[in-house]
Amino acid sequence: MSQGTDIGLKGPVMCIVGARPNFMKMAPILRALAAHAPAIPALLVHTGQHYDANMNDRLFADLRLPAPDLNLEVGSGSHAVQTAEVMKRFEPALDEHQPSCVVVVGDVNSTLACTLVAVKKGVPVVHVEAGLRSYDRRMPEEINRVLTDQVADRLYTTERSAGDNLAREGVDVSRVAFVGNVMIDSLLDAREHARPAADTLVAHDLDPGLLQHPKGYGVVTMHRPSNVDDAETLARLLGVLAEVSRELPLVFAMHPRTRNNVQRFGLQGLVDGARIAVLPPQGYLEMVGLMAGATVVLTDSGGLQEETTALGVPCLTMRENTERPITVEQGTNTMVGRDVAAIRQGVADILAGRGKRGRVPELWDGHAAERFAADLYAWLRAGAP
Ligand code: UD1
Repeated sequence: MSQGTDIGLKGPVMCIVGARPNFMKMAPILRALAAHAPAIPALLVHTGQHYDANMNDRLFADLRLPAPDLNLEVGSGSHAVQTAEVMKRFEPALDEHQPSCVVVVGDVNSTLACTLVAVKKGVPVVHVEAGLRSYDRRMPEEINRVLTDQVADRLYTTERSAGDNLAREGVDVSRVAFVGNVMIDSLLDAREHARPAADTLVAHDLDPGLLQHPKGYGVVTMHRPSNVDDAETLARLLGVLAEVSRELPLVFAMHPRTRNNVQRFGLQGLVDGARIAVLPPQGYLEMVGLMAGATVVLTDSGGLQEETTALGVPCLTMRENTERPITVEQGTNTMVGRDVAAIRQGVADILAGRGKRGRVPELWDGHAAERFAADLYAWLRAGAP
């Protein structure tokens, strides 16, 4: 008997991860599928889009993700190459395992690639974190979001505005379910095991005294191509961070794309001359510990905007737009773009005690994955699309 048929499913649920931001979403989903009564069999497929130990293995351990059942090992490449490689390698896996559906999360290239393969084979596609829109089509993630949502069969949203976006794009509301934010399930689960920020610095031979500043410390992450691929923009942003660090010491967990570009553009001096502790990409428990204790988080990440809102830590987002408006409307997030004056002002406001306190959005309560699993099972049993 094929996995799943004994509980009335056509086969197992095939869950896809590719890159770092997928892992914190998939971990609670896999646990909720296993805890559901009856247990829903799942297969974990890793496309291998992210492969560094720092971007990958440590996060798997921190999030208690099981080893993938399959690793497609696609690695890096242009968007076309990466997407095409995932598609080529995913197709035979799909044929072999005959799943009842494919579950994709977020907006990375692997999300879209596996979606395209599955829908064309008539396998139902389920998208978690559907409907988010930056309305900026220069972002590769925005293309991935729009296309995935157009063809996916069941769409799970994290905030109500996402449902409105889908309705505007002509998506039938009967395909959409608002279950809350599975990434916050991971955050709440990890918070009590988070690694103290001082330990993280010590582990990298850095002086934890940096964190003892009367104003605390700030945390920085930055990896969007729009911020780090252009030498002049990256120099400007590093310049303002160096300036901020004179007021508030910074801990910068640097993505490989950013690190490569800092070297390539000869900008290392900007960082070396500042009160900035540069770390490699961090594990999840380290990142949660760093964020939870921070005075401010400066970032261009999607996930950190949500995590800081859930933690009640002020966040300055170095982007022109956000696909997560609830973090600005209800949470602790302020958009500062790449505008040096706005970044300076944002930090000054927070240091003066005028940072946003915010509130936790609806259904960001640590139980989103349970609601997802219950809905998915009912939907599959009812015959899916
Ligand atoms: C991807 C996602 C983005 C997400 C980000 C988080 C897409 C379109 N983008 O962007 O949404 O916010 O992950 O990290 O899918 N690299 C390594 N080691 C790795 C992975 C990548 O060195 O383990 C290098 C690659 O060689 C490449 C660069 O980092 O030069 C970018 O990696 P890539 O996966 O193409 O996209 P990200 O910028 O990480």
